[in-house]
Amino acid sequence: MSAPAPAPPMALLAELTHRCALKCPYCSNPLELERRSSELDTSTWLRLIDEAAAMGVLQISFSGGEPMLRPDIAVLVSRAVERGLYTNLITSGVGFAPEALERVAQAGLDHVQLSVQGVEDAAADHVAGLPGSAARKRLLAGEIARLGLRLTLNAVVHRGNVAQIPALVRLAEDWGAARVEIAHVQYYGWAVANRDRLMPTRAQVERATADLAAERARTAGRLVIDAVLPDYYASYPKPCMGGWGARHINVTPAGKALPCHAAETIPHLVFDNVRDRPLAEIWRDSAAFNAYRGTDWMRDPCRSCERRERDFGGCRCQALLFAGDAAATDPACRLSPLHADMLAVATRDSTADADAYVFRTPGRR
Ligand code: SF4
Ligand code: FES
Repeated sequence: MSAPAPAPPMALLAELTHRCALKCPYCSNPLELERRSSELDTSTWLRLIDEAAAMGVLQISFSGGEPMLRPDIAVLVSRAVERGLYTNLITSGVGFAPEALERVAQAGLDHVQLSVQGVEDAAADHVAGLPGSAARKRLLAGEIARLGLRLTLNAVVHRGNVAQIPALVRLAEDWGAARVEIAHVQYYGWAVANRDRLMPTRAQVERATADLAAERARTAGRLVIDAVLPDYYASYPKPCMGGWGARHINVTPAGKALPCHAAETIPHLVFDNVRDRPLAEIWRDSAAFNAYRGTDWMRDPCRSCERRERDFGGCRCQALLFAGDAAATDPACRLSPLHADMLAVATRDSTADADAYVFRTPGRR
């Protein structure tokens, strides 16, 4: 008997471009960045938006790189609004005039996620690899407020700024955000190359956890604080992507459909391109989406674990990174034979005397 068709994805992440003015050393884009010449054109994105809505997707996030660098961003937002999708713009706030957001707001944009690198301009600019970037973000925050757009502040934390959590939450309040996401760096792509410069110590993580609890209590009822924890120090893994091929579909600037942003690091998987195959067919039938869908692919300890429907065995990309096998148990799990190795890497890297960041740059492998 063939497997039942999967429920439609909840969300589509549309990575419109890898171009970006910033060079964050923890960027989730792949080490090999797509060039402008290989980006999908407007008509293909419009078709994709139609297909996503028809298959039951509820939300589209326009991301990158910097999605505001696409001259067609307002056209794409407008189509998504017409098709009834909830629209979200994930932006660095840099590389375009703040006033350019007005066209996108007029197209019906529902929500903005604005990233910040810290609360002190000089240090934030250093991490972003661009002088003046923190000031540009402040300008954009003012424009978001003027336009009455709903705002989430995205703050990525690491060894260099993890002590700033209370100040980051205050910044979100000052900027009128309804939500702040405090995300510890997740170690894929560029962040792996910088792990010994970014990894916090266990003591820093414990302090950050206490700070988060205090800030949640202080802002209860006014601000939603979401947190993504550093799983190298965890006992159990995160339910990465809400399960492989379960809730999310990412489309890269060149049109590859991926179950997660780091999926291309799994070497044996072949990813279909939306130029060649309808999105619904890719979601339902493609070998890559079916590779780790559900629980049938699991081996022990996951196969017989009562948490398998809760965390789906953790992250396939992290399993690949540590075990060389994407079907292994995520080493963030205390039941993984590699759990102690992962903790040892975190402990070593958190105290490494590493110098300058490896900044995200085009063309570096
Ligand atoms: Fe999750 Fe697998 Fe660990 Fe169980 S054994 S907690 S399913 S990662
Ligand atoms: Fe790929 Fe977690 S990032 S499954």
